Amino acid sequence: MEFTIKSGNPEKQRTACVVVGVFDKRRLTLAAERIDRVSKGYISDIVRRGDMEGRLGTTLMLYNVPNTLSDRVLLVGLGRERDFREEAFCTAVRSTVKFLNETGAYEAVVCLTEEKVRKREVSWQVEHAVLAANEAVYSFARLKTETEEVRRPLRKLTWMVPLRSDLLVAEVAMARGQAIAKGVELACDLGNLPGNICTPVYLVEQARQLAKQYQEIEVTALDKQQIKEEGMGAFWAVAKGSEMLPQFIKIEYRRDVADIKPIVLIGKGITFDSGGVSLKPAVDMDHMKFDMCGAASVLGAFQAIAELKPDLRVIGLIPACENLPSGSATKPGDIVTSLSGQTIEILNTDAEGRLILADALTYAERFDPEAVVDIATLTGAMVVALGHIACGVFGNNDALVRSLVNAGDDAADRAWAMPMWNEYHEGLKSNFADIANVAGRAAGSVTAACFLSRFAKKYDWAHLDIAGVAWKEGKEKGATGRPVPLLVNWLLSRERYYS
Ligand code: BES
Ligand code: MN
Ligand code: ZN
Repeated sequence: MEFTIKSGNPEKQRTACVVVGVFDKRRLTLAAERIDRVSKGYISDIVRRGDMEGRLGTTLMLYNVPNTLSDRVLLVGLGRERDFREEAFCTAVRSTVKFLNETGAYEAVVCLTEEKVRKREVSWQVEHAVLAANEAVYSFARLKTETEEVRRPLRKLTWMVPLRSDLLVAEVAMARGQAIAKGVELACDLGNLPGNICTPVYLVEQARQLAKQYQEIEVTALDKQQIKEEGMGAFWAVAKGSEMLPQFIKIEYRRDVADIKPIVLIGKGITFDSGGVSLKPAVDMDHMKFDMCGAASVLGAFQAIAELKPDLRVIGLIPACENLPSGSATKPGDIVTSLSGQTIEILNTDAEGRLILADALTYAERFDPEAVVDIATLTGAMVVALGHIACGVFGNNDALVRSLVNAGDDAADRAWAMPMWNEYHEGLKSNFADIANVAGRAAGSVTAACFLSRFAKKYDWAHLDIAGVAWKEGKEKGATGRPVPLLVNWLLSRERYYS
């Protein structure tokens, strides 16, 4: 979709549709009031009759409103004025765009970006309006042969800003929103693709596609033989149960100027997680095609960064494989040697994410990183702890953890800091190896993070457990593209470290 920015009067817009907000109960926004005034009370009449109360997300389309230059005026409910915060704003934009996409209007001028969201700048609103609009029109239909096509799809939206002096920052924010939206879309597409299509090799091809598209990106990948030769015994222990060939992907973003320590992002790339010999129950096992959403978010973040071109050096590492049971699969009790040299007793083959991440974390040491952040759909316990609202952040450096929480806050892609006290390591003790890969049911997300920390001792490290936020279930089943917005926000916030 195409976007532009404008400032001006709603009644003077020559367009297919002008969108103005109404607060609960029946309170007109300034833009709605302006149209009401020129149309001699047309809007307030309708509102008084009870057809638009202002409830959040409701819509009412009006035609031929007197003395306006647009074909239509769309009223959108914004909820209570004092509750008009980030969430309400994004919800209102999503409802607007979903509704418009099903009308005959192929373009619109949206005045909702003029309504002040508390503690946020115009730039924040424009960036998030772009993201919400893209989310509203996203669909994943490429594997359906019969598609319900939108007859006249929405092609162009103009965001209104309050002042002419807002135009410049709004343009920059719009570009940022579009770049992030591109990354989110890539992450969603990869997440939604099933395990028989989105294989480890497919992920390599997608990464190579980015390298082709952007000269700042370079991609290499290790195959099965190289993974074994490298000594990634923990990664191989997961990969070896499947006929699908594993890949260890390295993707690098750098500007020619940047001779600096890299930031490393590591994404869990399990293209299907059956649990292995510790087989999962059949119910909802299809959700485990989403077990590569960490990897997808890394590729999405690279796409956004390559669009925005900050002065940064970023390396992405993606261990990608399937976790399946077979005659060659790892068995509970097997002991393997990780790339770090530490031996691991694999008590549960379903705790596979931490195994592949362990070797990637060790591999990251060779880049002498500024910081390492891994992103993984790591534990069901994370969903129990924080639900689908925020992902959990763990780490060995409080400032790093805090910076990620803040980035999530700004991105409306929330993360919440979780504890990692020493006592939690207790359960990872093994009688037979240096460490066990599981520690019992209690605090499952924390003990998983503790396991990872044993392989991340040589640098500042943080871990995002995105099990609860990477996809939606139920009627709206599908990948969310989270935490691409958080990652991009965070990476951009690191740029000032260097410049
Ligand atoms: N990919 C899963 C985690 C998961 C499960 C994410 C459900 C989202 C929804 C991971 O590999 C896993 O199976 N974890 C186990 C760990 C356990 C065996 C210690 C889990 O959470 O049950
Ligand atoms: Mn698992
Ligand atoms: Zn998994």
